[in-house]
Amino acid sequence: MRVLFDVNILLDLLSDERAEQFPFSVEAFTLAQLNNDTMFISSSSLDNLEFILFSQVKKNNPTFTNKDCFSVARLAIKDLLTKFEVAKTPGYLDLDYDDIEDSQIIGSAITSRALVLTRDEGMMKKYPKHTMSPREFINLDRSKDVKFLDLLNINLKDSLEIDKVIDEVINSGWYIQGSCCKQFEKNFANYCGTKHCIGVANGLDALILILRAYQELGIMSAGDEVIVPANTYIASILAISANNMTPVLVEPDIKNYLIDVNKVEAAITSKTKAIMVVHLYGQITPMEQIWQLAKKYNLKIIEDSAQSHGAYYQDKRSGNLSDASGFSFYPGKNLGAIGDGGAVTTNDAQLDYTIRALANYGSEVKYKNMYKGINSRLDELQAAILDVKLGKLDGDTEKRRVIAKMYREQITNPKIILPKVELGENSHVWHVFVVRTANREAFQKYLADNSIGTVIHYPTPPHKQEAYKELSHLNLPVSEQIHREVISLPISPVQTIEQTQYVIDIVNKY
Ligand SMILES: Cc1ncc(COP(=O)(O)O)c(C=O)c1O
Repeated sequence: MRVLFDVNILLDLLSDERAEQFPFSVEAFTLAQLNNDTMFISSSSLDNLEFILFSQVKKNNPTFTNKDCFSVARLAIKDLLTKFEVAKTPGYLDLDYDDIEDSQIIGSAITSRALVLTRDEGMMKKYPKHTMSPREFINLDRSKDVKFLDLLNINLKDSLEIDKVIDEVINSGWYIQGSCCKQFEKNFANYCGTKHCIGVANGLDALILILRAYQELGIMSAGDEVIVPANTYIASILAISANNMTPVLVEPDIKNYLIDVNKVEAAITSKTKAIMVVHLYGQITPMEQIWQLAKKYNLKIIEDSAQSHGAYYQDKRSGNLSDASGFSFYPGKNLGAIGDGGAVTTNDAQLDYTIRALANYGSEVKYKNMYKGINSRLDELQAAILDVKLGKLDGDTEKRRVIAKMYREQITNPKIILPKVELGENSHVWHVFVVRTANREAFQKYLADNSIGTVIHYPTPPHKQEAYKELSHLNLPVSEQIHREVISLPISPVQTIEQTQYVIDIVNKY
């Protein structure tokens, strides 16, 4: 939770006498600390707080000089700020001239998406949606409402750093193809372990551009076949057809929902030019057999890493296990922008050069066009935000792993089939936590009735989509079973242990 402390509560915490008189203030503060809540002081409260503290010190110590009294007050504020963040007071504030201070505090709380903790009855009456008393705060039941993906809180978690880079980009006056994109490309390539990274507009474009570049380089042509798992998100397949190539759908392995590596060789023909593996749900595809087949048949391997940022296979990360990999930074991804974004990673300098040009109207040098390219670029704002969030990615992944471990160890309901991890804990980054159950709709409704959000990844297999009528005759029973039975439980870096425990208890009672 995000809680902004009104000055009256802060003063309760700073004086033994007041702490004794208002024990709920102290209890609320202790609880917020225990729960790892983000605690704020409004920037508009700081000088008022300084002045009140100064007056108190002066009153209690009449012999102190003003300078000494101010020093004591400032030390107390400095100490508070080791536990509290300063919430900005926005310039677009709706000032209430009857109580300027309160309206500033409320403005700060709104812009920081926090609730104000206060004992001020007048404030609570005037701003009931934005305030809460310490007693109400203590009595909140937090665990019994678990959103599927609390995107807002995921981004608020890093909001101070994100705010800073947003201001920097706006103030730089440079919004496309500048230093932020370069910096992020360098850092993301380093993270993945590849030589190159090209920021593009979204994950679908990343995959489209890889195949398009291979065509421009004469390595692939329209009409060639690309092998792809049948149960992937449709974007992987769209990238193939967008290049007038033929997707060849291969069944997944029911144990891990990844392409069944034992069924790939049978799908290879004289027209096959590439195998596109999709590390679906965050789990790495067992690559050894794919590498062997690619070598044997002289095929390119493309990774769809849209869901697997940071996942390992042996000692290499997703994005560095193939000739080229497409990433999505769609907001809900493990590394998500605040809008669309994507990237290609590769160790191939020629591919890097070609994709870079293709994504920029087909031009590497301004106003010289060597290809009929497109406009698909990662803008400065998204790149700067992604760079902040890249620094948090491994920590966030660890939080996802803790939740996944709890689910896997403690969900014991025989009606629920849990996901399996065969290649070690590092091979899965738990983009989503997918379980299977026979009567999915009933299970989903039961969870919704208990305020637990779920999503189906995905309800309809690509070959049964209207867009792919030409594939509807395919016999893909494993894929169809998966699409009938899967349902994703909530998992995210901001989901608490209590919420996870609540989900486990409810699932076990089903
Ligand atoms: C497996 C997979 N591939 C590709 C994409 C496409 O990414 P984007 O939404 O950024 O275009 C997505 C995400 O939506 C995805 O999940």
